[in-house]
Amino acid sequence: MSPVDLGGRTALVTGGARRIGRAICLALAGKGVRVAIHTRSSEAEARDLAERCSGSIVLRADLADPAERARLVPQAAERLGRLDFLVNNASVYERTPLEELDEPSWERSIAVNLTAPFFLARDAGLRMRAAGSGAIVNVTDWATERPYADRLPYFAAKAGLEAATRGLARALAPEVRVNAVAPGPILLPEGAGDDLAAAMTSATPLGRLGGPEAVAEAVLFLLGHDFVTGETLRVDGGRWLK
Ligand SMILES: NC(=O)c1ccc[n+]([C@@H]2O[C@H](COP(=O)([O-])OP(=O)(O)OC[C@H]3O[C@@H](n4cnc5c(N)ncnc54)[C@H](OP(=O)(O)O)[C@@H]3O)[C@@H](O)[C@H]2O)c1
Repeated sequence: MSPVDLGGRTALVTGGARRIGRAICLALAGKGVRVAIHTRSSEAEARDLAERCSGSIVLRADLADPAERARLVPQAAERLGRLDFLVNNASVYERTPLEELDEPSWERSIAVNLTAPFFLARDAGLRMRAAGSGAIVNVTDWATERPYADRLPYFAAKAGLEAATRGLARALAPEVRVNAVAPGPILLPEGAGDDLAAAMTSATPLGRLGGPEAVAEAVLFLLGHDFVTGETLRVDGGRWLK
C-alpha cells in the first residue's frame, strides 16, 4: 500500500453533525482534512463541531430534495476551494412493516439512502476525475444480504448503494476510488432501550457495540489506501457470521 497523505485535503461528509458522521468529521479533521459538514436539521451541533475542526464549513441541504442535493457538491467544492473526498453517511432508518408500507415512505428511503448518495458520488466523482484524483466512501449496512423484514426500503436502498459502489468504482477508475463501509451494531437507534442493546450485543461475536470511532477508522483506511476500490468493508464485530 502507498498511503495517501490526507493532510491538506478536503472532504464533504453528509449527515456529519451527529453520531457516526460526527466521529468521521473529527477523525478527518484530526488528519488535517478540511471538512464540509453537511446537515439538514442539526445546524447548532454542526456549528459546534465546525469550531473543533480547523478550516471546516457547514452546509445545509435536505437530501430528499433534488434541487438542494444538486447544489451540495458545487457548494462544497467552491467553499473549500477543491473537493478530494466524499463520505456519504446521511441516512433515514424508518421502521416500515409490509402491512403499513406506503409509497411515500418507500420513496423517502430510496431518495435519501440511494438516489442522493448516488448523485452526490456522480457529481463529486466527475469533478475528482477531472482534477486527477479523489476517493469516495459510501456508508451502507452489514445486513444488506440479510435484510430485516420490517425495514425493507432501507435495506433495498443500502443494497443498491453497494451495487452502485462497485459500478462507480469501475466507471471512475483509475483516478477515483469508490468503496463502502458496512457498519454493524455501532450505536443504538435514538430512543432504543436496554433490551435492544442486550439483544444486539448477544447477537454479535465480539459481544459489544462498536462505537462511532470504529466506522471513522475504516473510512480513514479506505480514503487513505491507494490500491483498494469497489470494496465493502464490514465493521460489525462479526455480526454477519451469526
Ligand atoms: N448506528 C448504527 O449502528 C448503524 C448500523 C448500520 C449502518 N449504519 C449506517 O451508518 C450511517 C450513520 O449512522 P447513524 O446511526 O449515525 O445515522 P442517523 O443518526 O440515523 O442519521 C445520520 C444523519 O442523517 C441525516 N439525514 C437524515 N435524513 C436526511 C435528509 N432528508 N437530508 C439530509 N440529511 C438527512 C441527519 O442529519 P441532521 O441531523 O443534520 O438532520 C442525521 O443526523 C448511516 O448511513 C447508517 O445507515 C449505522
